[in-house]
Amino acid sequence: MVDKLYQTNDSDILLEIRDLDVSFPTGRGELRAVNGISYNVRRGEVMGIIGESGSGKSVEAYTILGFLKAPGKINAGTAAFEGRDLLAMSRRELETFRGREISMIFQNPMSCLDPVFTIGRQLTETLQTHFKGVSASQAREKSIEMLRSVGIRDADRLMKRYAFELSGGMRQRVMIAIALLCSPKLLIADEPTTALDVTTQAQILRLLKKLRRQTDMAMIYITHNFGIVAEICDRVSVMYGGYILEQGTVDDMFYRAAHPYTQALLKAVPRVDSLPPYEPLIPIEGAPVDPVNPPDGCVFHPRCAFCTEICRREAPPRTVFSAEHSASCWRLDGGAAEER
Ligand SMILES: Nc1ncnc2c1ncn2[C@@H]1O[C@H](COP(=O)(O)OP(=O)(O)O)[C@@H](O)[C@H]1O
Ligand SMILES: [Mg+2]
Repeated sequence: MVDKLYQTNDSDILLEIRDLDVSFPTGRGELRAVNGISYNVRRGEVMGIIGESGSGKSVEAYTILGFLKAPGKINAGTAAFEGRDLLAMSRRELETFRGREISMIFQNPMSCLDPVFTIGRQLTETLQTHFKGVSASQAREKSIEMLRSVGIRDADRLMKRYAFELSGGMRQRVMIAIALLCSPKLLIADEPTTALDVTTQAQILRLLKKLRRQTDMAMIYITHNFGIVAEICDRVSVMYGGYILEQGTVDDMFYRAAHPYTQALLKAVPRVDSLPPYEPLIPIEGAPVDPVNPPDGCVFHPRCAFCTEICRREAPPRTVFSAEHSASCWRLDGGAAEER
């Protein structure tokens, strides 16, 4: 067992999240949404974050970008983007950073498209906010070009329309176009295809894959679907109950999954092209963790088929298999579970 988080001193690291811990005070007590997670994203790669609903994926992403709203609290952690801690930035600094260096796309495009302005105005304003010298006609030209690159043929006409006039897939394309306008170094995609019909899901996924090949933008791709992970990710972090239980390359996950939770998720893999819209992950037995009253010991133990005495008592250490692959489970700790 190696305690150090990353064995390589990787100069390619774009974003490094360490020990991030986020909670919400609620009427029932403290809700532990994210419990000290650490991972990094290298330039140009796609890091997948996978886990069932409620595992802390969105909270983690919002927090990095400064979107966490009161009463949410960051209890600990850093998120170093090219060495600068996003969590320590002022609101103003973050605003210039967002859109320009890091962009985010969501499951529901209406959450970021403005209903009262035309699509064209939203695109050109995004550009002119971030690049002061850009003229109106340059902004228009660049906006049309971007709409075309996300597969919108009739971009000229679309510029004059409003978000509510568009189909779900079209809105998603517009949101992606806005996110990519300023050529960010990192795109955070939070389940961007989950709310779409099957055909549109496949189209948007294809578009994101194409953009990936054409630019050197890195991505954090949040999903509950291992089929999508296989399609687009390089590496994956598996989240449950606010913890990362396993991390590794896509091959590590599909051929060498070590954690019982990852193995259970993999058994539930639906084919990307056979997904009906809104289909939840095929459920794993047992109820998901209550983040206000998490279990003692390993967070997954109440649902784990391999649970032993120590799993109920103590959180497992992280076992490192390779520079990329690690998991936190007592079974993997050299038989320590049986000995205790
Ligand atoms: N604004 C909030 N106030 C209280 N609890 C929240 C809030 N946002 C998220 N949570 C809780 O935090 C946990 C993680 O949520 P989330 O990150 O949205 O999960 P995921 O994206 O993995 O489905 C959940 O238990 C959720 O109910
Ligand atoms: Mg979410």
